[in-house]
Amino acid sequence: MSTELKNIFTPIKINTMEVRNRAVMPAMATGYGNPDSTVSDRLIAYLARRAKGGTGLIITEVCAIDPRGKGFGAEIGAWDDKFIPGLNKLADAVHAEGARIALQLHHAGRETFEGIAGAKPEAPSPIPSAVLNQACEQMSVDRIRTLVAAYASAAERAKKAGFDAVEVHGAHGYLPCQFLSPFSNARDDEYGGSDENRARFLLEIVAAVRESVGPDFAVIVRISGDEAIRKGFDLNFSKWLAPKLVGAGADAIHVSVGVYSTPGNLSIASMDTEEGFNLFRARTIKETVKVPVIGVGRIHDPRLGEQALARGDADMISFGRQHLTDPDFLNKAREGRHDDIRRCIACNQGCIERLMFEFKSATCVFNPDCGNEYKGEVQKAPDPKKVWIVGAGPAGVSAAMYAAKRGHNIEIFESGKEPGGQLLSASMPPHKEGLKQWFAWARKQLEAAGIRIQRGMNVTPEMIAQGRPDFVILAAGASPLVPAIPGIDGQSVVEARDVLLGKAQVAAPVAILGAGYVGMETADYLAAKGIPSVIIEMKQFPPVNAFTAHGYWLNKRIKEVGGRIELNSTVQRIEEKSVVFRRADGSEQTEPAATVILALGARPNNVLESYLKESNIPHSTVGDAKTPRRFIEAIHEGARAGREI
Ligand SMILES: Cc1cc2nc3c(=O)[nH]c(=O)nc-3n(C[C@H](O)[C@H](O)[C@H](O)COP(=O)(O)OP(=O)(O)OC[C@H]3O[C@@H](n4cnc5c(N)ncnc54)[C@H](O)[C@@H]3O)c2cc1C
Ligand SMILES: Cc1cc2nc3c(=O)[nH]c(=O)nc-3n(C[C@H](O)[C@H](O)[C@H](O)COP(=O)(O)O)c2cc1C
Ligand code: SF4
Repeated sequence: MSTELKNIFTPIKINTMEVRNRAVMPAMATGYGNPDSTVSDRLIAYLARRAKGGTGLIITEVCAIDPRGKGFGAEIGAWDDKFIPGLNKLADAVHAEGARIALQLHHAGRETFEGIAGAKPEAPSPIPSAVLNQACEQMSVDRIRTLVAAYASAAERAKKAGFDAVEVHGAHGYLPCQFLSPFSNARDDEYGGSDENRARFLLEIVAAVRESVGPDFAVIVRISGDEAIRKGFDLNFSKWLAPKLVGAGADAIHVSVGVYSTPGNLSIASMDTEEGFNLFRARTIKETVKVPVIGVGRIHDPRLGEQALARGDADMISFGRQHLTDPDFLNKAREGRHDDIRRCIACNQGCIERLMFEFKSATCVFNPDCGNEYKGEVQKAPDPKKVWIVGAGPAGVSAAMYAAKRGHNIEIFESGKEPGGQLLSASMPPHKEGLKQWFAWARKQLEAAGIRIQRGMNVTPEMIAQGRPDFVILAAGASPLVPAIPGIDGQSVVEARDVLLGKAQVAAPVAILGAGYVGMETADYLAAKGIPSVIIEMKQFPPVNAFTAHGYWLNKRIKEVGGRIELNSTVQRIEEKSVVFRRADGSEQTEPAATVILALGARPNNVLESYLKESNIPHSTVGDAKTPRRFIEAIHEGARAGREI
């Protein structure tokens, strides 16, 4: 075992529950549950895989204590005995891998939709969520009592199903947190008004859960140490609350942060937020209680968790998204194989944003196996083929890794001097250097499989005809789109990619055409150098959603240096020192611009596809070569193509 991680790998007890180490997989909603809220084989395989990777305690994703408390489409439930068999199967599978398992008891309150909850969302007060903006109904005192009892019965079911613990979800702006918050609780009865009254609901839940599970069963309570919103509760309030939770029956406190409307979504902080940024809140709570405290928030590197434990910030560390990116990261860390760990870069694209904004099940951009564990390991192909991969960007490299697992003979060609494709420029804006880590990791896997990327090799139909591969994966990516705007070939016009790679000089004032991620991140890159940009966008609404964590920070940083976005604005022509655009009302505006940066999308590099089709050569087109999109599509499609040959 690596001696540098001795704290992490020291066992701990929560009440009578012995945990093999200090690493926690915190609750993460996946969308893997069955439509009837029972546990699915997919969920079991996914969590058992994380247990196998070495984690000490797995806390399941949100589990509804009442159907009206469901916050996600396929959220699992524990409001009825019918859920016990599935939960039992899950607990057994996790136990078989040596980890402990806790069920997270959840009611979303106002943070849901009627279509999911099956009724109008309920809340302490009829104040709609600032993010979801759904009308909600104030709960009566009778309903409060019913739900307190529902938490207790759900906890009892968890115990019956063989779980080791429950976690009461009192964080992130869900129902108990809505009661705690002066922002969402405007009641004037015994459940609102004073701190004592706002805390009553959660304290009653904890006491009722304790009563139902008995004195020896571990009860964890998750809180947001600070709502981090105007008019919300703060860390001082949580310092006051934590000992009361312990008094009511909590055996451990899990200190998260934020609610749905917290600027920059600190509950699931993006790459823009410093690693370990929330540990000070755990440390503050730890000063007030004697039970174990769990710290969380952008802790992806076990060595950072180790430092936090050594400093006494917390007694256990939650590694959330890191469990999605690499289920084996703890075992690798224990063996000192830190460079073999595939790191979460806190992009949120494949996990929380996919779940919340695309209404799809969660996965990880960089781990195409996440959520597919139930399909089993990749098997060796019975008849290894000669496979050519055209392009060594994210899609090509991902395809090569999976085709190699199948045992095929792979040749991967890259026309450029360096592999990486668009990732090379995508990793240049502030906070995006993590992308390079993934690529370095992927290249290491290829090297280990004996695959060398052949650089400076532009694959042509002639080469394919001569080389006669059995299968071709076309992963040639996409090139910048250059529309026919008058003046676009002028001296002052440059590509965003060239700016980011330092190949193009930039003089202020700067106009960027296109407010998608490429345009916004190029503006951010320039903002970090103190150069403001005017971003001109045809669409009526900003393409980069400011409700996403990264989107929030991008907008903030661009504005801080005096940058701005002009929406509803169509570029008419580019002149020597300016850009002329037309607004929706038909008026024309001239924007001074010494440099005009193009970020207007991309066109697929798919010219080889027609040759492959005509020549009847088995092939698959993946990533941006199919349609320009994002890393998730490139990496997952590449993986699928490699796996399916
Ligand atoms: C500035 C910028 C920022 C971005 N940021 C993000 C982001 O934050 N998140 C996100 O999801 N997406 C982002 N993207 C998009 C993302 O980079 C692409 O979706 C992704 O790189 C596509 O991967 P790919 O492998 O399909 O293609 P590419 O990355 O384009 O790679 C294709 C490779 O094929 C090579 N090639 C082409 N033709 C041939 C040939 N005939 N023979 C041999 N080699 C060939 C190319 O040289 C290239 O290296 C960004 C893009 C840019 C430009
Ligand atoms: C996809 C996803 C789903 C989440 N669902 C839950 C949840 O069900 N319950 C919960 O308490 N927290 C949830 N969280 C928050 C995580 O438990 C964790 O606190 C957060 O991801 C920060 O930790 P990390 O930076 O280590 O990922 C979720 C996070 C993600 C990424
Ligand atoms: S999708 Fe991004 S944030 Fe989510 S787990 Fe993967 S790397 Fe981390």
